[in-house]
Amino acid sequence: MEDQDVVSVLVENRIAWVNFARPAKRNAMSPTLNRRMMEVLDELEFNDDVGVLVLGGEGTAWSAGMDLKEYFRETESLGLRGVRKSQAESYGWFRRLRWFQKPTIAMVNGWCFGGGFGPLFACDLAICADEAQFGLSEINWGILPGGGVTKVVVDLLPMRDAMWLTLTGDLIDGKAASAMRLVNESVPLEQLKARTTQVAEMLLSKNPVALKFAKDAVRRVGTMTYDEAEDYLVRMQEAANFHDKSEGRKEGIRQFIDEKSYKPGLGAYDL
Ligand code: ACO
Repeated sequence: MEDQDVVSVLVENRIAWVNFARPAKRNAMSPTLNRRMMEVLDELEFNDDVGVLVLGGEGTAWSAGMDLKEYFRETESLGLRGVRKSQAESYGWFRRLRWFQKPTIAMVNGWCFGGGFGPLFACDLAICADEAQFGLSEINWGILPGGGVTKVVVDLLPMRDAMWLTLTGDLIDGKAASAMRLVNESVPLEQLKARTTQVAEMLLSKNPVALKFAKDAVRRVGTMTYDEAEDYLVRMQEAANFHDKSEGRKEGIRQFIDEKSYKPGLGAYDL
């Protein structure tokens, strides 16, 4: 039985470095890992020492997807109750991550298969190594990409690319994933941590309330009509004004118009 070490956490300079930590199993997501990941998100979400969460992987994999033995075969042997429980645990932390209070970055160092596309999509931004390899291997062992994965690729990719990955199970490397817009950027593996740190620090310089409302808005408005989105965004800005006790937007205008200490077109105001 594995203990809690299936996920590692290091908080440093307001960045929470959360790693899938089953390198010997290529960071496959077992029920134990899924339960631990939910606890970790709980611990970090409203921790004032954390401004950004980075999700990485130890060893050669980011995540080899769901654990075919522990998540599929062993839970299926427990019947429908076991299957539904395991699904709720994995979908649960993916959902929690999608709507996480702080901005999140997937730092994809290596293999990313199947179910791994769930947390990949759940992260707001994604930076990968050129050496990373992405694939929907479900078709190779006889299932469809479930657990939201088909929805993820249809939301992120043009239909031809989504269909190609789904039907062929072909691997694409980091550069191809970036060209396809599955991730924001691909950089050589030795630069991955430095580049991710740079992006995380850039996010840390922004108003945290604005970040949370803005990231939710990007995920929400896609399924709305224009009028619905317009109305939603007005209401959300008003809600953000309520939550932002620092009245950041007024301070941002003051530093630009009165103090002339920065230019909003070129960077963020001093928090
Ligand atoms: N589930 C369970 N165990 C896994 C998984 C997985 N998804 N991926 C790797 N492992 C285990 C292997 O069984 C092996 O265990 P063992 O040492 O006890 O024999 C160990 O991790 C190392 O795996 P290798 O295959 O030896 O590692 P290698 O580096 O040669 O290959 C690769 C890596 C390509 C990731 C390969 O392990 C693989 O194809 N894994 C399955 C990927 C996959 O199809 N995932 C499911 C996607 S579909 C879904 O998530 C719903």
